[in-house]
Amino acid sequence: TLIPVILSGGSGTRLWPLSREKHPKQLLTLVSDDSLLQATVRRMDGLDDINIADPVVVCNEEYRFVIAEQLRMMGRKSTILLEPSGRNTAPALTIAALSALHQNDDPILLIMPSDHVIVDTDAFKQSVQQGIQLALKGFIVTFGVTPDKPETGYGYIQTGDKLTGADAYNIARFVEKPDTATAQAYLEAGSFLWNSGLFLMHASIWLQAIELCHPKILSACRTAWHGGSTDGDFIRVEKTAFEQCISKSIDYAVMEHIALGQNPQLPAGAVIPLAVGWSDVGAWDSLWHVLPKDSGGNVTQGDVLMHECKNTLAISESRLVTCIGIENTIVVETPDAILVAHKDQTQDVKKIVDSLKETG
Ligand code: GDD
Ligand code: MG
Repeated sequence: TLIPVILSGGSGTRLWPLSREKHPKQLLTLVSDDSLLQATVRRMDGLDDINIADPVVVCNEEYRFVIAEQLRMMGRKSTILLEPSGRNTAPALTIAALSALHQNDDPILLIMPSDHVIVDTDAFKQSVQQGIQLALKGFIVTFGVTPDKPETGYGYIQTGDKLTGADAYNIARFVEKPDTATAQAYLEAGSFLWNSGLFLMHASIWLQAIELCHPKILSACRTAWHGGSTDGDFIRVEKTAFEQCISKSIDYAVMEHIALGQNPQLPAGAVIPLAVGWSDVGAWDSLWHVLPKDSGGNVTQGDVLMHECKNTLAISESRLVTCIGIENTIVVETPDAILVAHKDQTQDVKKIVDSLKETG
């Protein structure tokens, strides 16, 4: 059995003003009629060869009703695990693994961020199918994307030897969020891939890895899981125990230690190159990248009129937006806020959001 585990925690501040604290990026319909979360749930449809169970969604208490409603609209059953507050992805995956093992005989978990876009779903399914074979052998499987810029917000995976009989490699090194100079060196070295944030492994393999690297995360999550309660469609973990957990991502907590030969007790890591049109839609410029464009490279959504514009993204939610003669610009209109930004500076949206938080 394969259980899709969907991590839905972040708020995606760089997509302000569409993403808000109450309505984070994964719940927005940015790319199609589906929200990013709904598209993630649908991504596994039609995968043969393995029994796919209902997904497990791990999310914050605060988003439970919107998430349940989005799944209900799709007619999907799921297990929704609620965190009282975010402790990043390592604890989130640990409670998902405990929950999965409670219901199934050591299933394989396909861990998916809830806020990514994958254009070529068929190619993605082929990669997952390859990954399943490796996960069955006990590997922690990652999926690597060929880098094209020294992005510092990603994990970098150095490929080791090719694994026999698979389009996959050993993980020689895993470095999470390097600084710019290091990222540039990795880009030039040519032997590094970006970590896509998707993982595939047996539930028991994750628990074994987290126990070796951070036994306290495992023990806090065990207590939180066993002390938890069911509330309709939701499973709530016990607050006090869960909040004892340190905040750590899967990448820092385990993946950086998985690298070849560092600790022979740890499960082995493998990376499968992914060529599927992947984007983590981190900021407005990456959304512009993945969306279909007109001949001038423009993307429009909603009530937008353009005249002689180039490489511009304009989204209107409530009013008519008109743009004339502008290039490389992002325009996002909502009822209470409008963003106009240079396309090369969309990372700085976070700074605006931070200063808005300070001034209230
Ligand atoms: N349930 C839950 N709880 N989910 C969480 C939490 C949490 O506390 N924190 C983050 N998530 C979810 C986010 O919603 C997202 O879908 C996913 O987990 C990854 O978290 P991010 O916060 O977006 O991680 P990142 O983008 O900084 O880095 C990860 O993704 C990169 C690719 O996009 C890492 O895996 C990097 O190595 C990777 O390159
Ligand atoms: Mg992310």
